[in-house]
Amino acid sequence: MNKIRNRDMNYDEFISNGEQVLRWAANYFEGLESLPVMSQIKPGDVKDKIPNSPPLDGESFDEIISDLDKIITPGITHWAHPNFMAYFNSSGSAPGILAELIAATYNVNGMVWMSSPAVAELEEKVLAWFRDSLRISKEFWGVVYDTASVSSMHAIAAARENIPGLEIREKGMTGRKDLPKLKLYCSTQAHSSIDKACLTLGIGMDGISHIPVNDRFEMIPEELEKQIKIDIKNGELPFCVVSTIGTTATTSVDPVKQISAISKKYDIWHHVDAAHAGVTAILDEYKNLFDGSESADSIVINPHKWFFVPIDFSALYIKNRSILKRAFSLVPEYLKTEGGDEITNLMDYGVPLGRRLRAIKLWFVFRYFGLEGLKLIISNHIASAKWFEEKVKTHPKTKLFAPVTFSTVCFRYFPNNTYEETLNQFNKNLVDRINKSGKLFLTGTKINDLYFIRVVVSGIRTEKRHVESAWELLLSEAQKLENEFEC
Ligand SMILES: Cc1ncc(COP(=O)(O)O)c(C=O)c1O
Repeated sequence: MNKIRNRDMNYDEFISNGEQVLRWAANYFEGLESLPVMSQIKPGDVKDKIPNSPPLDGESFDEIISDLDKIITPGITHWAHPNFMAYFNSSGSAPGILAELIAATYNVNGMVWMSSPAVAELEEKVLAWFRDSLRISKEFWGVVYDTASVSSMHAIAAARENIPGLEIREKGMTGRKDLPKLKLYCSTQAHSSIDKACLTLGIGMDGISHIPVNDRFEMIPEELEKQIKIDIKNGELPFCVVSTIGTTATTSVDPVKQISAISKKYDIWHHVDAAHAGVTAILDEYKNLFDGSESADSIVINPHKWFFVPIDFSALYIKNRSILKRAFSLVPEYLKTEGGDEITNLMDYGVPLGRRLRAIKLWFVFRYFGLEGLKLIISNHIASAKWFEEKVKTHPKTKLFAPVTFSTVCFRYFPNNTYEETLNQFNKNLVDRINKSGKLFLTGTKINDLYFIRVVVSGIRTEKRHVESAWELLLSEAQKLENEFEC
């Protein structure tokens, strides 16, 4: 029965409702494999099931919970599903999920040190663990944002602030005749978040040079230097280079060492985007992944992508934190605090004022699995992807589209009697067909107008058997599609 409530749950209610939520979550995981991976609903289906106004009286918790399975679950594409092999997966682990509950329980705002000292101190310590586990130089200091897009935006803002003499913080960028055109460089394969950061920061699309890549989709350093020289000659001001370790489409790795050397030579900020693949540096096989980035200025890695920390959680590492502070610190009277260098007021390091206790998620994940456990999970993903790669290489109708560097396999299926013009359509139809089956979720993309399929093995529940089934499903759906194409 509905009733007006003017106080929060009491102890017993909290426990029993909490147990119900935990049981719901555990059942969700238990039943996950029987759910279609990609949501099968039509646009508007969720909205239609939700009343147009909130209830006047409070509803029973049973009713609220039962609507999850009726309304929300059908509208979920299950990122936690072991057969989710699309995009770059973000799969939260149980310790991370429970840490979310604890963060919400404390529900503190760590904007300044004294508003909850544990927020800044835990963040600093856990990000140092993460940095050291990835063999990144201890010169870098870490700060947490929600996403890699926001981390990179802050890094590029620091790069802009780092340009001597322009006083952009004070004078802005509009209406100034004394401001040269600022130029940022990244490869044609860099993530769109870099372009978005440039849109946000007044650099504009015209201020970005997308440097060509080689046939392994890695930035060509000679092309980078050539473009920088041309721009300088034209009176433009190169201020930032972004290299990527693990590009979004194919997971290619830019030659970070050479790019670092060029950035040093021209005194340009170097930001490294390792949002997805950076975590592999915990493995001995990838121990040199960050080579060259010791002379970079900033690096982004997302524990929420492939480190089993529930979204959202992105770590930005920056060598000279005072530049970030110079770019963003603005302290209103009511937030002025005592304290010197021994405290960190996180609001000084970015746009957001409020900050929750995000670091607890990474702390729990590290402590629950241990570094060795995390290494095992990630190396199993890579081994399964290698198995899939081998299948693609040896099957007469499939061909790799890009080298497999981590656990993402990019390939195309070549049916009989199909011309290049229809190959894109065939592969796209194949992905759509697989996704509609609900058994597997994949995505594809295009480079140079060629459409290819990506299989990404990085979900915490994804085992070798799921990757084997994915291959079987792909072949059988491709065969059915081929038969239809031939009719
Ligand atoms: C290389 C790379 N950088 C940045 C991003 C953006 O990540 P986020 O969603 O955390 O902003 C992605 C997303 O997949 C990515 O692949």
